[in-house]
Amino acid sequence: MTIPDEKNLVSKDGTAPLRFAYWVPNVSGGLVISKIPQRTSWDADYNRKLAQIAEKAGFDYALTQIRFTAGYGAEYQHESVAFSHALLAATTRLKVIAAILPGPWNPTLAAKQIATISQLTEGRIAVNIVSGWFSGEFRAIGEPWLDHDERYRRSEEFIRSLKGIWTQDNFTFRGDFYRYTNYTLKPKPAGALPEVFQGGSSRAARDMAARVSDWYFTNGNTPDGLRAQVEDIRAKAAQGDNSPKIGVNAFVIARDTEEEARSVLDDIVAQADPDAVKAFGHEVKNAGKASPEGEGNWAKSTFEDLVQYNDGFRSNLIGTPDQIAERILALKEAGADLILLAFLHFQEEVDYFGREVLPRVRALEAQRSARTTAAPTAAAA
Ligand SMILES: Cc1cc2nc3c(=O)[nH]c(=O)nc-3n(C[C@H](O)[C@H](O)[C@H](O)COP(=O)(O)O)c2cc1C
Repeated sequence: MTIPDEKNLVSKDGTAPLRFAYWVPNVSGGLVISKIPQRTSWDADYNRKLAQIAEKAGFDYALTQIRFTAGYGAEYQHESVAFSHALLAATTRLKVIAAILPGPWNPTLAAKQIATISQLTEGRIAVNIVSGWFSGEFRAIGEPWLDHDERYRRSEEFIRSLKGIWTQDNFTFRGDFYRYTNYTLKPKPAGALPEVFQGGSSRAARDMAARVSDWYFTNGNTPDGLRAQVEDIRAKAAQGDNSPKIGVNAFVIARDTEEEARSVLDDIVAQADPDAVKAFGHEVKNAGKASPEGEGNWAKSTFEDLVQYNDGFRSNLIGTPDQIAERILALKEAGADLILLAFLHFQEEVDYFGREVLPRVRALEAQRSARTTAAPTAAAA
């Protein structure tokens, strides 16, 4: 199948084509906490080739991960900003999102690093500001583990500082965590401002997205679960001048038959490392419980959900290319602007997704766009 021209995908109601991102496996063990054999590697050569395959397949973004210590199946972890630059150097169109954790990073260093990478890559770098879920990691590197909502208060100041430094000369800011006095960064990022993504679904995460983030990334979910979050964020955002776009996580198992795809999922879960999954579940649920509402990103996650780090099975992109394309459209209709994808065997499956699923998504988008634009004409006639 061929991919229709992007400009034909924008419907008259203003709906933009869905964007696609993939998780960069810069951490060992892949994106599932399972002993199932994976033809995915965390090394640089594998990842450079994967980035080239993804760019050719039609992906818009690659999302790196930041982890400072081992645990839950992730023994080795390449650093996200340096790794992002390596992927950008190996590609020409793909945007790479560098994960940044306030605490180990401060906005001064992050703004400077990202501005330089932006200059080196014609503005293809973006950032994902993460707020932390792994208290053991903070302890190991001597970083204070702030209360849940304090972590988000710090992240919000971090984002405000980044945007201030990138856009203003003589930037002055008086926060509780960060302070600037007449600070001028030169050079600033090339072209458009680096996009600021964030991860997390708690009340504090949604409020921060409504106020300052360009993109809100959330864990895998059903269309109804996603819609509830989107409505909440949009209602909050409408009170200010920010309008964040929405990205949702999903683990894709696309096979020629649904039975094949389901049996891969069964194998991943059957070979899950139960101790690692339970320990991961304990850590992330604790991190969320410390929020005032007592819930976080993983509040409703079952054992099976937790085998994929960010609840990617819940989005149910498991089946044939036709089924998956339909379900992706349902996520779009629930408010997603971007689908973030993980795979078992990244290189082969990103390629397959580009050939078999993406063209079906584009065809469905074009069909629905034609339907919405045809409807008013018919009514007028
Ligand atoms: C798509 C996505 C990517 C994330 N990437 C990272 C990461 O690379 N490193 C990290 O420490 N946390 C990462 N997180 C975790 C979040 O920043 C946040 O700490 C976590 O989701 C807890 O959110 P909560 O406040 O909703 O419970 C990510 C979250 C999402 C949804």
